[in-house]
Amino acid sequence: MQVRIGRAAAFAALAIAVMAIASAQRARAQQAASAKETSASTDQGNVDLGKAIFAEHCSHCHGFNMVNAGTITPDLRKFPDDRQRFVNTVKHGKNNRMPPWGDILKDDDIANLWAYVSSRRGQE
Ligand code: HEC
Repeated sequence: MQVRIGRAAAFAALAIAVMAIASAQRARAQQAASAKETSASTDQGNVDLGKAIFAEHCSHCHGFNMVNAGTITPDLRKFPDDRQRFVNTVKHGKNNRMPPWGDILKDDDIANLWAYVSSRRGQE
């Protein structure tokens, strides 16, 4: 009997944890969606969105907030002011080392990434 109650409690705790995670994810998705609506016209909004996309998809290779030694992956704070090259690389990848993102990121996402990269140019 003791064991059964223990199991039931464990299941209940697990169910609560799963529900909590699911609702946290929903909240995040809603936040992202509303951020997207409000930011279309503001540069800072684009930078912030780009920063979030970068943190999710790019930072594990290019460094948190673009801070890296620039050895294995380029230091994007030093990337030239060349939007065409940026969009091209992000969409199609480069040298089989930088992965292509054309199937994953929308043009808007890439534009926001560019806003973020531009905002960090030449900074610490
Ligand atoms: C798997 C690791 C990895 C991920 C993830 C990654 N990159 Fe890269 N990236 C690289 C490497 C490696 C290079 C250097 C490629 C080369 O020049 O051979 C590179 C190069 C670049 C360049 C320079 C290209 C040029 O024309 O010189 C840009 C810009 C860039 N990445 C942006 C991004 C963005 C934006 C993301 C997220 C959407 C991202 N990368 C995600 C590994 C990665």
